[in-house]
Amino acid sequence: MAGLFITLEGGDGSGKTTQAALLEAWLGEQGRRVVRTREPGGTDLGLELRQIVLHRRGHIAARAEALLYAADRAHHVETLVRPALDRDEVVLQDRYVDSSVAYQGAGRVLGGDEVRELSVWATGGLTPDLTVLLDLDPQVGRSRLDAAEKSWDRLESEAAAFHGRVRDSYLAIARAEPARFLVVDATLPVAEVAAAVRARVADLLTEQ
Ligand code: TYD
Repeated sequence: MAGLFITLEGGDGSGKTTQAALLEAWLGEQGRRVVRTREPGGTDLGLELRQIVLHRRGHIAARAEALLYAADRAHHVETLVRPALDRDEVVLQDRYVDSSVAYQGAGRVLGGDEVRELSVWATGGLTPDLTVLLDLDPQVGRSRLDAAEKSWDRLESEAAAFHGRVRDSYLAIARAEPARFLVVDATLPVAEVAAAVRARVADLLTEQ
């Protein structure tokens, strides 16, 4: 048994939280210790950064925004993620580097490659063993959020075209790194998505 780093990615309303909870329960049944966490905001410092980057009123320069996410990530990886992996636990994480590439890169001010390089520096190059991309038309994700009457943060308030670029960027990243990614159609019933995720994770566990 060794540490396993699994990240969940996808647009807002794609069901990451639901799937993380189901996978956490299943991993527990397999006898694995799981650390469930998220970015931004997986640490105490991260919660302060999350408040700034998601809820601060007024403009944040694109490079500053990318650096705030990278700062959250650097602290999170060093103080929480790597120590858990070193203890051979499973880290199940809502959003990671691919979120920065997709969201900060999709603003088009910054290129996806430079955003990735910043995160690679911030994390010392820690790469997930598996990234689950819950792929969803952003308009469907948006209507799910509306139905849940959730208030929008700074990123969620971006225009529809921005969220279309985020989705395209995610799919391009997944195509470029097929071995790391499992792409699942997030319009499938929750149980079907969960079964697809479990099957892939089960393979990883037997490879260990
Ligand atoms: P998330 O915690 O998934 O939102 P919520 O709790 O509201 O469901 O993510 C918060 C937002 O941060 C989301 O809109 C995407 C954005 N984000 C980035 O733009 N870049 C990043 O690197 C990360 C981690 C998140």
